[in-house]
Amino acid sequence: MQGGFEVRVGGMNTPRRRCGDLTQTLRATSLRWFPPRRADVTAMHMAEVGGVGLLCRLRNRPDRRASPCPSHTSARPSDATPRNRLTCWYVYLYRLYQYCMIAVDGRMEPHRQLQAERDREVVQAVMKLTIFGATGRTGRQLVEQALGAGHEVKALARDPSRLHVRHEKLTIVQGDVLDPAKVEEVVAGTDAVLSALGHTSTSTKDVQTVGTRNILAAMRKHGVSRIISLTGAGVADPEDAPKLWNKAITLLLKRLQPDVLADAEAHAEAIRASGLDWTIVRGPRLTEGPKRGSYRVGYVGKGTGAAISRADLADFMLKQATDDTYVHKAPVVSY
Ligand SMILES: NC(=O)c1ccc[n+]([C@@H]2O[C@H](COP(=O)([O-])OP(=O)(O)OC[C@H]3O[C@@H](n4cnc5c(N)ncnc54)[C@H](OP(=O)(O)O)[C@@H]3O)[C@@H](O)[C@H]2O)c1
Repeated sequence: MQGGFEVRVGGMNTPRRRCGDLTQTLRATSLRWFPPRRADVTAMHMAEVGGVGLLCRLRNRPDRRASPCPSHTSARPSDATPRNRLTCWYVYLYRLYQYCMIAVDGRMEPHRQLQAERDREVVQAVMKLTIFGATGRTGRQLVEQALGAGHEVKALARDPSRLHVRHEKLTIVQGDVLDPAKVEEVVAGTDAVLSALGHTSTSTKDVQTVGTRNILAAMRKHGVSRIISLTGAGVADPEDAPKLWNKAITLLLKRLQPDVLADAEAHAEAIRASGLDWTIVRGPRLTEGPKRGSYRVGYVGKGTGAAISRADLADFMLKQATDDTYVHKAPVVSY
């Protein structure tokens, strides 16, 4: 008869503990026998976030029969067959390793750290990116995050001194987005364009539309196809299902900032008609909060919130440079 064991160390809701509580956790370890039919080739380890519980299931391989011991309620190595003893020691050692990780840097999610390390190891495609509005609040986040990800960045800035970042992979070209020649200079040879252009006290009412038309023309001329452009959630999209309060906000915007909204809408129309691989990223209220790395992507009235930090918005925009999920779409990114 083939059988298997489930070894549980601690519980699913085990509270946060440090190294000193290891004994307590190990006492809570239990060993459970599986019915023969469930025995097959599987090994599963689940370490939980926060609860720091570990579920380790080891089942016998069909060709290696282990003696089932249904009477065991403790996973003490001495209680088990040689094979199961090995399993128990493995669990103990893995557990010990987890607690050491916690003790070393005070974090409760060692397996998440490992995942993060694995993620960092994934070789990212290094791209050449052109960023417009780089001196703005979202633009600066874009520049910093793009450089942090190893990309080469070209930025057009009316006043380069407003961009405090200096990096060997950053080229700042002084110029205005209303100047087609300057726009061409930064777009030529790039892989993707990111625009966080906005209205400032020194910009024209139609800066976003005229500037974007210049960008689109330069892209067509130089064979650049990918553009990700930022605008507000007040710009409508066919996928939206606005609720009453969404309509109220849009009405308010139309009354308070008619020129900004009209320019944003015209810029979106120009992009939609461009024939390029565009993504219009729409944001609700933008904040200066930190980058959380998690946010919702939806449409007005469908799975969206009222705010997002510029750091997270930049994170989403940057990811679109290497992701075609939202090509020809205008999602709203929010918490
Ligand atoms: N504020 C919000 O809550 C909110 C919400 C949703 C969406 N949005 C949209 O998000 C976008 C970015 O917002 P933000 O607050 O990060 O922008 P911001 O800080 O106001 O920055 C605007 C950027 O556009 C640049 N710019 C303006 N005119 C230019 C020109 N003629 N030539 C070159 N660059 C020019 C500015 O450069 P200079 O440094 O030279 O002025 C600056 O870098 C805007 O389109 C905005 O409408 C904002």
